[in-house]
Amino acid sequence: MIDNPYTTAVLAWYDVNARDLPWRHPDATPWSILVSEVMLQQTPVVRVLPAWREWMKRWPAPADLAAEPSGEAVRMWHRLGYPRRALNLHACATAIVERHGGEVPDDHSELLALPGVGAYTAAAVASFAFGQRHAVLDTNVRRVLARAHTGVQYPPKTQSKSETRLAESLLPSDAETAVRWGVAVMELGALVCTARSPACADCPIADKCAWRLAGKPAHDGPPRRA
Ligand code: ADE
Repeated sequence: MIDNPYTTAVLAWYDVNARDLPWRHPDATPWSILVSEVMLQQTPVVRVLPAWREWMKRWPAPADLAAEPSGEAVRMWHRLGYPRRALNLHACATAIVERHGGEVPDDHSELLALPGVGAYTAAAVASFAFGQRHAVLDTNVRRVLARAHTGVQYPPKTQSKSETRLAESLLPSDAETAVRWGVAVMELGALVCTARSPACADCPIADKCAWRLAGKPAHDGPPRRA
């Protein structure tokens, strides 16, 4: 079911322009998707790819990682930055083994209760690994919605309730479309609606974008990265 003004155009764009990333393949496991989402939170895709491949080869399941000392996780983190995430993933693997028999849970609140798993990661795993209808609101999605819908160059520094409400109101009503919409709008933010030099000429929703239609007013206040 297609029920927001951007869905059709964004999904059609994604069908043609999506990057072929291994965690998006149909054979990606929930664990591999969870690891990818934690790595991608603060690190660009090109740097995540080799590290993610190494991790998945060495620790294909949560039990494999939980069986090793947490220092190994930090060592294998390489230069992804914010190494606390490696410790969190180790704690997460241990909790998955202890509480969920070694299987990543498919329940959103059980995901949220795992160490180091916040609102974004829980929604992303529930959506991308288990096909559930959840609004996934990362930096890229927040920027696209700020521009296309709200008409401003950048979203607020910290996520507001109104952004969450907006993302939920735009979520297609059937789960399968909602999942594709989530990853498609994220990809649009990563590839076209970038923070500093958006390629509006390549944007499938340029004709509907409130920010562009307003003449792309500059952000009011200190410069923003996001
Ligand atoms: N595909 C699924 N989740 C992603 C993310 N967080 N960044 C880039 N591509 C993704």
